[in-house]
Amino acid sequence: MKTKIVGTGSSAPQNVVTNDDLAKIVDTSDEWIYSRTGIKQRRIATDENAGTLATDAAKRALENAKVDAQDIELIIVATTSPDYTFPNTASVVQSNIGAVGAMCVDISAACTGFIYGLSMAEAYIQSGQFKKALIIGAEYMSSIVNWKDRSTCVLFGDGAGAVVLAAVEDETEGFRAVSCLHSDGSKGHVLTYGDRAKLSKNEQDFLYMDGQEVFKFAVKKVPESITEVLEKADMKLDDVKYFILHQANIRIIEAVAKRLGQEMEKFPTNVANYGNTSAASIPILLDELNRNNILKRGDKIILSGFGAGLSWGSTLLEW
Ligand code: UT7
Repeated sequence: MKTKIVGTGSSAPQNVVTNDDLAKIVDTSDEWIYSRTGIKQRRIATDENAGTLATDAAKRALENAKVDAQDIELIIVATTSPDYTFPNTASVVQSNIGAVGAMCVDISAACTGFIYGLSMAEAYIQSGQFKKALIIGAEYMSSIVNWKDRSTCVLFGDGAGAVVLAAVEDETEGFRAVSCLHSDGSKGHVLTYGDRAKLSKNEQDFLYMDGQEVFKFAVKKVPESITEVLEKADMKLDDVKYFILHQANIRIIEAVAKRLGQEMEKFPTNVANYGNTSAASIPILLDELNRNNILKRGDKIILSGFGAGLSWGSTLLEW
């Protein structure tokens, strides 16, 4: 059984916050933020949250796919900033779109979450259990960052992206994705949030990140996993049309391109406009590329994520 991404959608809060806006609340500057990260602005929720953003992105993906919500049998939401511990965000989306009876699950793999989710949905479809799935990356990062900590609050943004994945019977259509997905829990302490022991003592807990450690890890592991996936698929770097990386920092993307000896033209980016939207960044970018008709049928693309866990991985698929 092969699968196909038959539709994409995304959603971001209306409220645009520029680097200059942030310089009014913490000791920072547009020059520092842009030169270190490539970020110019991000969207920050006012009335929105993970559930509403995920719902909007899902509705747009279903519309793009021309698929009825009632035909969706599986909803996976990758999120690190869900509105509730339970019910899960997938159930919130299910209720909002009317995907009655679908299996709903959130997965917590931070910025790698979307490609983990895509791979899990593909496995369910290949097993014959489901025919159509919604995979969503949705984040309300502004609710978990410390707005007094300049080293993290300038980096993140809110948003959601979604794809509809469907089984295809026609052998000339669709793909069998090749994925290499990994975690190293021994490095978990460099990127954390949500310590329940603190919360139970009414102490606040915010996102903590050792930026330099995460930077070094990403620049090493992302090229490794891209190479691993290509070896597994018996393909070469030149066979790949686009590398769609988690949008955390333009310098990470440039370093990965350099390590792989590939031109930056093959690495589309939108980090300048959204900042780091964690699990949402890859599907938001995928939706932009789809809607601008940049992806052509048959293009080989690699999606790569990395983040808390520490987790990382790459998925090769054909558009
Ligand atoms: O999605 C999860 C994955 N996360 C990532 O991929 C993030 C990976 N890491 C990074 O992108 C980079 O490490 C950062 C952008 C987070 C930081 O860049 P850096 O070049 O590693 O900066 P740094 O942490 O070494 O800080 C350099 C200086 C420090 O000052 P001193 O100690 O040199 O005087 C910081 O206090 O910059 C200071 N600084 C700031 N200055 C102005 C830190 N944040 C800011 C700020 N504005 N917002």
